[in-house]
Amino acid sequence: MADFETRARKVLPPVLGHYTWLSIDRGEGSWLQTTDGRRVLDLTCGIAVTAVGHAHPRVVKAVTEQAQRLMHISVGVAKYESSIAFAEALATITPRGLDTAFFGNSGAEAIEGAIKLTRQTTAREAIITFRGGFHGRTVGAASLTTSKAQYKRGYGALLPEVYVAPFPYPLACALPDAHDLEACEAHCFAELEAMLEHEVPPEHVAAILIEPVLGEGGYVAAPASFLRRLRELATKIGALLVFDEVQTGMGRTGAWFAAQKVGVTPDVMTLAKALGGGMPLGAVVSSRERMERWRTGTHGSTFGGNPVSCAAGLATLQVIRDEGLVARAERLGEIMVEELAPLRSHPRLREIRRFGAMVAAEFDDKAVSKAAVGAALERDVLLITCGFHDQVVRFIPALNIKEDDLRAGMRTFVEAARAILVGAPA
Ligand SMILES: Cc1ncc(COP(=O)(O)O)c(C=O)c1O
Repeated sequence: MADFETRARKVLPPVLGHYTWLSIDRGEGSWLQTTDGRRVLDLTCGIAVTAVGHAHPRVVKAVTEQAQRLMHISVGVAKYESSIAFAEALATITPRGLDTAFFGNSGAEAIEGAIKLTRQTTAREAIITFRGGFHGRTVGAASLTTSKAQYKRGYGALLPEVYVAPFPYPLACALPDAHDLEACEAHCFAELEAMLEHEVPPEHVAAILIEPVLGEGGYVAAPASFLRRLRELATKIGALLVFDEVQTGMGRTGAWFAAQKVGVTPDVMTLAKALGGGMPLGAVVSSRERMERWRTGTHGSTFGGNPVSCAAGLATLQVIRDEGLVARAERLGEIMVEELAPLRSHPRLREIRRFGAMVAAEFDDKAVSKAAVGAALERDVLLITCGFHDQVVRFIPALNIKEDDLRAGMRTFVEAARAILVGAPA
């Protein structure tokens, strides 16, 4: 077994970006073991997926038993227990009224489904999204993605009738006095209203689609008041409000969904990542009434809601519920911010942000964030960046991580970042 990097470079395409070349043999809880025997603390959760850790025994048992019983039949061919049981369980935790789930395999597919559902059931075409959002890489989802222009590079014309409004992100605000959240929010909303006056007639808008917290875009939470205003606006113009909760869903924010945390109920939610507990699974969730209007046969998927993925999703949901992990997310977030305190006064750190257990440290330059993440990995702590320029380090621990492990991992990051910052010009 030559090392994975050498082999991967021969048979996997370079189009796949990579944060590291770590060769992972196994994962257990919050720990990864490399093929050369290193133990690495995982503060990435495989990009916000393994919310109950790697190989949680209850998830592994559910997957194993389901694989032995029925691995595949396709929901279009026949019905089976796990997809129905999982949809029933989801309906007990989603915002009120969002009681029906269409299952796909990924976040991007959930976005594709949301585009189709909203367009078909409103008989309108335009979709309003927000600058900095990441919604996936399939053609429809990439059309809505503006966290980095590179996701569109070389792909020609994408989906028409997509309009991009500014997201209230004070550090990136176009206003001269950028750092005032209220002023930035007012500016963004005014721009959105101007868009409806100058660029797209309100009655053309099928959906206003937003990540309540920018994920890939930098872990930036939209103020609850902004999301409330979007709710009112969508209702007023007859458009649907869609929350992309692919990264924020399933307890990560200290509520089952960010929608509940901010007290705003969207018409549609898209879910994936932690939904399947590590198995590929995504969902478009909406009301029964709306789903009844999505015409039979006009959308579907061979693998979507696969029996094993749904069994894993159901077990994951039960673990999150039984272990009280939704409430714990808030505590984990507090711990992370507490441990980052020694970096706070450094001139190259622009901001520490937190929304539940989504924590970000934004630096003034990618050179610092990347070097700090690299130095942390040398000390066996795995982290990844996000942000328009990868200038943000994001912390996404499993929601059941041991407190000692989390504190030790955060201290290691602080030590690594300090070592980098000593050498970096202020
Ligand atoms: C908010 C959000 N939406 C959609 C996606 C796309 O999900 P996937 O990579 O499963 O297609 C992502 C992935 O990072 C995401 O963070």
